[in-house]
Amino acid sequence: LNMHTALETLPKSELHLHIEGSLEPELALELADRNGVSLPYDSLADLREQYQFTNLQSFLDLYYELMGTLKTADDFRDLALAYFKKVSAQGVKHAEIFFDPQVHVSNGLDVNMVMDGLLEGMHEAKARYGITSGLILSIVRDMPVDTAQSVLDSVKNRADDILGIGLDSAEVGYPPHLFTKQFEEATALGWHRVAHAGEEGPASYVIDALDNLHAERIDHGIHSVTDATLLERLASERIPLTTCPLSNRRLQVVGSLENLPLHNMMEQGVLINVNSDDPAYFGGYIADNYQALEGVGFTLSELSNMAENSITASFISDVERDALL
Ligand code: HPA
Ligand code: ZN
Repeated sequence: LNMHTALETLPKSELHLHIEGSLEPELALELADRNGVSLPYDSLADLREQYQFTNLQSFLDLYYELMGTLKTADDFRDLALAYFKKVSAQGVKHAEIFFDPQVHVSNGLDVNMVMDGLLEGMHEAKARYGITSGLILSIVRDMPVDTAQSVLDSVKNRADDILGIGLDSAEVGYPPHLFTKQFEEATALGWHRVAHAGEEGPASYVIDALDNLHAERIDHGIHSVTDATLLERLASERIPLTTCPLSNRRLQVVGSLENLPLHNMMEQGVLINVNSDDPAYFGGYIADNYQALEGVGFTLSELSNMAENSITASFISDVERDALL
């Protein structure tokens, strides 16, 4: 068994995946055509030119623009199924996937329709590939707080269709505590809590997410490395970080993969797992992220450890988890 195959077959969970970030440019153009959405790109080649990012915002601009091609429940089902098909060949047994309802609502869609499409795709993925999954409703932190509240209000009556609440989009200037009320309401609905923090923002935003949102996992979190006390806390409270190596490189959060502080944090006892974030934008799905780490010297034993961490860090029941480990 060569290393490449070994990394593809390691049983793993994906815990940091924006389903809209799995929208491949080919599918975006097909949906634009099908749905009569006009995009300012003449061809696939022209669109592909746009995938050169200098920071988080430069990516978000394209990501939100292409999200505008998603219009029907079938579009969302097809999007989810395309993702699950890809990762079914990469060892993924379970996925906890983000979606950005505020953006779809601002595009004129009904959040319930979006969820129905995604859930249908997730249900079909279980039947076809045996992959279990859950939905994380992610708050888009740079949109007005009342738009976050209003999507929460719209889905409260179907709380069991949602696994957790998250927090994403432009980080700096939008500290976690702005959403304390929404996270409290989510907790009352029985949802888990995660938040993007410490991607472009400072370690203090990670602390903010732990103290004020009671986040159970931190998405990215790599800037935690600048605060030794925080690293001790993440280790002792067993708060996993869902890291995304190819994303960090493509958004220039780090200059190169060698500079990712993962070894450092693992040595401090922080639970690290590996994810793709927005695979259609950052040059690879989850196994490609494991392979990228292998390329900068991570050993099979370290990578297996991270895969095992991804299962430990998931929100599935103990019985389901033991079956995967
Ligand atoms: N960071 C913040 N917001 C996002 C990301 C990300 O990596 N992907 C999609 N929305
Ligand atoms: Zn993300």
